[in-house]
Amino acid sequence: MRKKIAVLPGDGIGKEVIQGAIDVLQTVGRYYHHEFEFQYGAIGGEAIDQFESPLPKETIDLCRQSDAVLLGAVGGPKWDRNEAHLRPEKGLLAIRKELDLFANLRPVQSYSSLQETSPFKGDHLEGVDFLIVRELTGGLYFGKPSERLRDNGEEAVVDTLFYKRKEMERIIDTAFQLAKKRNKKVTSVDKANVLQSSKLWRDVAEEVATKYPDVELEHMLVDNAAMQLIAKPQQFDVIVTENMFGDILSDEAAMLSGSLGMLPSASLSSNGLHLYEPAHGSAPDIAGKQIANPIAMILSAAMMLRHSFQLDEEAGAIEKAVKHVLEAGKRTKDLTYQNRFVRTNEMVEEIKEALADDFAILNIMEAYA
Ligand code: IPM
Ligand code: MN
Repeated sequence: MRKKIAVLPGDGIGKEVIQGAIDVLQTVGRYYHHEFEFQYGAIGGEAIDQFESPLPKETIDLCRQSDAVLLGAVGGPKWDRNEAHLRPEKGLLAIRKELDLFANLRPVQSYSSLQETSPFKGDHLEGVDFLIVRELTGGLYFGKPSERLRDNGEEAVVDTLFYKRKEMERIIDTAFQLAKKRNKKVTSVDKANVLQSSKLWRDVAEEVATKYPDVELEHMLVDNAAMQLIAKPQQFDVIVTENMFGDILSDEAAMLSGSLGMLPSASLSSNGLHLYEPAHGSAPDIAGKQIANPIAMILSAAMMLRHSFQLDEEAGAIEKAVKHVLEAGKRTKDLTYQNRFVRTNEMVEEIKEALADDFAILNIMEAYA
């Protein structure tokens, strides 16, 4: 298989972790005979510096000519004081909108090997395995007006939570489709006791559910969901929610996987061109030090293999390699209290070696089969 992949490293640790994902993909390509061609584009702060735009047209064109997009992270103190349209985060929101990446999949699972540094005791996290499906191109992030204004002479401000019914239908439908292939339960998270948008969301969820008689639907208020994620995370299979709730709940859920550096994501569109990005940000405080955890980015690359290229076996091989490395006690700084930890590039090397070992075993087994 030959595939063209647009690589948008962005800012901060985005650059460090994306290199890890590329190395791992090249390793997988070598073993399984695929050719991945990587082409770089600018986004975020770097793009502001080079093109005076957080999402230059060149980058959009590059993405459109590619089979999938890998994105690192955007943002940093250098651009924090910029006007709204020249902020790195605008580039991220713009690419989501431009490529119609409405469905953000954030799979959460616990790793028993990370128990020691988990804030949760004993076997509290045993068997945690769920998927957050976050709406990504609507809601408060995009609604107009969004501005500072004056109200009867007083300083005031407005953000708008706007959704069309169709936008709700397609994300909730996506969640049901995914639940069908998992444990057949959808938890729809809203704030229907207060918000109009949530009342419609709930109605739409009920309607979509009638198309999936074998999938159970439950509604949960977002404040309760935040609590339930900690109290009993095993109860969830697929969580579907609007943009802002999904943003907040997924950072919370990342801690169930060990750290924010463990949570990958896939941003899917309906036209077949998808984008893969870790759920973490650019972490300017640790950028350039080779101490970032590359696993969220590497697992995002695995999601690309699965969702964009239907390479399930290859994706599984990466996920297995990550598990092996963690079981062997390798830790980046975010996953340990010790002073001894592996650096970003060392973690990548460990994962590549684990891939090589697994591949060798696989070949021996096939030879004897
Ligand atoms: C995420 C990030 C972004 C978001 C920021 C950087 C705009 O937090 O992908 O979760 O809020 O969507
Ligand atoms: Mn976030």
